[in-house]
Amino acid sequence: MCGIVGYIGESQAAPILLDGLAKLEYRGYDSAGIAVYDGEDIRVQKAGGRLKVLSELTHDGATMPGQSGIGHTRWATHGAPSDTNAHPHFNAAGTIAVVHNGIIENYLKLRNYLKGKGYAFVSETDTEVVAHLLDYYDKGDPIEAITKVMHRVEGSYALGILFKEHPGEIYAVRKDSPLIVGHGKDGSLIASDVPAVLRYTRNVYFIQNEEIAVLTKGEIAFYNVYGEPVEKEPTAIDWDINAAEKGGYEHFMLKEMYEQPKTVRDTLSPRVKDGGIVIEELGMTDEEIRAIRKIHIVACGSAYHVGVTGKYVFEGMARIPVEVDLASEFRYRDPILEQDELVVVISQSGETADSLAALREAKKRGVRTLGIVNVVGSSIAREADQVMYTWAGPEIAVATTKAYSAQLIAEYLLSIKFAQARGTVTEKEVAAYLKDLKRLPEQIEMLLGNKERIQHFANRYIAAKDVFFVGRGVDYAISMEGSLKLKEISYIHSEAYAAGELKHGTISLIEEGTLVAAVATQEELYKKTISNIVELSSRGAFVLAVTNDGNTEIEKAADYVIYIPQTNRYFTNSLAIIPLQLFSYYVAVGKGCDVDKPRNLAKSVTVE
Ligand code: G6P
Repeated sequence: MCGIVGYIGESQAAPILLDGLAKLEYRGYDSAGIAVYDGEDIRVQKAGGRLKVLSELTHDGATMPGQSGIGHTRWATHGAPSDTNAHPHFNAAGTIAVVHNGIIENYLKLRNYLKGKGYAFVSETDTEVVAHLLDYYDKGDPIEAITKVMHRVEGSYALGILFKEHPGEIYAVRKDSPLIVGHGKDGSLIASDVPAVLRYTRNVYFIQNEEIAVLTKGEIAFYNVYGEPVEKEPTAIDWDINAAEKGGYEHFMLKEMYEQPKTVRDTLSPRVKDGGIVIEELGMTDEEIRAIRKIHIVACGSAYHVGVTGKYVFEGMARIPVEVDLASEFRYRDPILEQDELVVVISQSGETADSLAALREAKKRGVRTLGIVNVVGSSIAREADQVMYTWAGPEIAVATTKAYSAQLIAEYLLSIKFAQARGTVTEKEVAAYLKDLKRLPEQIEMLLGNKERIQHFANRYIAAKDVFFVGRGVDYAISMEGSLKLKEISYIHSEAYAAGELKHGTISLIEEGTLVAAVATQEELYKKTISNIVELSSRGAFVLAVTNDGNTEIEKAADYVIYIPQTNRYFTNSLAIIPLQLFSYYVAVGKGCDVDKPRNLAKSVTVE
């Protein structure tokens, strides 16, 4: 996600801001900017693309003198990557500068409110709302203005703020987005993550939710949302720089797995309003949804597995036919597409060559298209008729985890929306779905908390030659993703099969001790999958079962059982995938593989 830095002290601010931003480059970004108070005014410089461009423009900060400032690397969410949308953002007079990380969920409402008060907007960002709202409430006391803004904005934010009228101070405030502050030897610093400050200090204060920090060159004071002072103790950081970039995690993949509860929450919460589902970006009325006769889901890799899950979920919930295609096949198979059909292209990067070509193929035939995309402003996001963003933030590890989880959520929301419009679910069922969706983040957290047990199990399989994953229905889709994760990062040969297909060939591959992961989260299919487990065990397989809490019956057949918490049968993928991700990760770590950058693989496959 975006990176924030701030500095006030005895030294020149700009070089320190640029250095801090460079340490946050790993977070992913598409533009950067800094604002520095030069003794008279706040000066700003922004640049699209790499940070190097901003450094060159400012001669490594030399052209922006001043001892206090804020800086930002932006990863586009609201509004495409551009100089105008890059931070910092300002009030009209240029006296308040703001950098922001997070999403202001009610920004449209606030934007309209402020426009009604005569405020003009120059960017498409949600952040600009904060700059104008601060201006609106600014009566000379920054803390008062900030707390008023905090009461008005919904969503998540980490903010760095500079007030021209208060040149001896910089401000930091956060809710559900990380932000730290610390004291260097000649000044105070703000950063969204530890690596940006390690060069200057190893004692940092973690700002808690809805707290404000006021930094002067000599000290840092903290306040709560009511403007009352708060006492805080610094935390000593002993990470080396490399570990710090990964937030203390050994690999980006592990870090990203741990970000899944947040990712799920971020993708879900802006679309669940007043007990219902609102997907504004779908741009379709209920009548238009009802007119759709068939959905085609097209994607590659893990996104394709999200599509396979989608077939079960859409068809089961909304009773609408779904075809799922690998984009590389779809684009060349002269697909039969009718005018009353919808093509959904799922892609984290929004740049996968085959997915983009498939989208173009569909558009050429005049069919309505929808992208489920993570990277704002990417090709698929730009070219699809409508785009529904997943709010997973940048994913660094090649093997996807958090973007996959966010795609699943987007798909569940769409399915419920279609089911509602088509009248295939009752309001009571929708309420139950929403209740289960909202519980997913804490359930995922709980499953991640069991990592030691899975690590222990994984260590027994680092020498495995072949691993099979089996399941029925949604469990088959989960098996496909579990298998892909394992082969991608551990280089162990693995395959996923629909459990009922085993007898048609695969079972001949089972030898004494072969590991089979059997996924059994679909209650109505338990008995069938248990029969398959028995068939496998009797041929020597060691069976690891992933099933729902309470299905203890499976212990009679499987050798090792991982339980997942109860949720609706359509949403089990979001939970069952967690232990499978952890298993793959620990097998790969145990084998000494380059987990974040597996051999021969690329994060974004922009060639056929
Ligand atoms: C690559 C990545 C996978 C990803 C696939 C599709 O193979 O390694 O993790 O699922 O591309 O990428 P996309 O960006 O279109 O989701």
